[in-house]
Amino acid sequence: MPSPAVKGFGQGDPALGAWAEALHAPEDPVLKDVRARSAAAGLPGIAVGAMDGLHLEVLARAAGARRAVEIGTLGGYSGVCILRGLAEGGRLDTFEKDPRHAEVARETFARAGLAARARIHVGSALERLPEIERDGPFDLVFVDADKAGYPAYLAWAEEHLRVGGVVLADNTFAFGHVHEPAYAGVDGPAVEALRRFAERLARGGRFRATILPTEEGLSLGVKVR
Ligand SMILES: C[S@@+](CC[C@H](N)C(=O)[O-])C[C@H]1O[C@@H](n2cnc3c(N)ncnc32)[C@H](O)[C@@H]1O
Repeated sequence: MPSPAVKGFGQGDPALGAWAEALHAPEDPVLKDVRARSAAAGLPGIAVGAMDGLHLEVLARAAGARRAVEIGTLGGYSGVCILRGLAEGGRLDTFEKDPRHAEVARETFARAGLAARARIHVGSALERLPEIERDGPFDLVFVDADKAGYPAYLAWAEEHLRVGGVVLADNTFAFGHVHEPAYAGVDGPAVEALRRFAERLARGGRFRATILPTEEGLSLGVKVR
């Protein structure tokens, strides 16, 4: 099943979301092709929505980012969005544990004319992130992989972003349960990890942060120390 391009946006009113999408036309043929090829290759339909992709591009531009890191590549949809937002000569290091996903992403970056600016690291992000540390500090880190790993990914971002650099993370409303400390569903450990991530980002003292109220919650923090 393809990733849904349209996810909730606009105070929960689908008409407002549809208006915003029609106005901004966030998905061009390159991005539509990523969604279609990812579905045809049997990848799970869990890429960011079209407006989320646009947020990533615009936020990367606003941050003046040149060196970006992504944790969770899938078929390369969000990677293309981030790369489009980077300053001239910008580069993305993106981490993906599943070689089938990485293969689709490799084709995505080639088709988008971005292959020379995207480096895909195949394997567990936590094991492979140290390989790029000497290239830091980085301007932007986007977290969108296993939810249990979010606190550790934030700890990595704290150490390897420059002051003024930006961390972004998708799904930080934890499927609508982040605010329920007693939540006991099957994905309880993921929810708990996302809550720890949100608390550390908001109150850990290293970032000034907020959550953009997309359907799934897009955390945004600027490193202040
Ligand atoms: C939600 S998808 C990423 C979607 C992508 N950011 C996009 O919007 O196009 C999460 C991806 O993270 C990968 N992943 C999960 N755990 C991982 C880990 N520990 N290290 C690296 N990648 C991981 C999954 O295989 C999957 O492809």
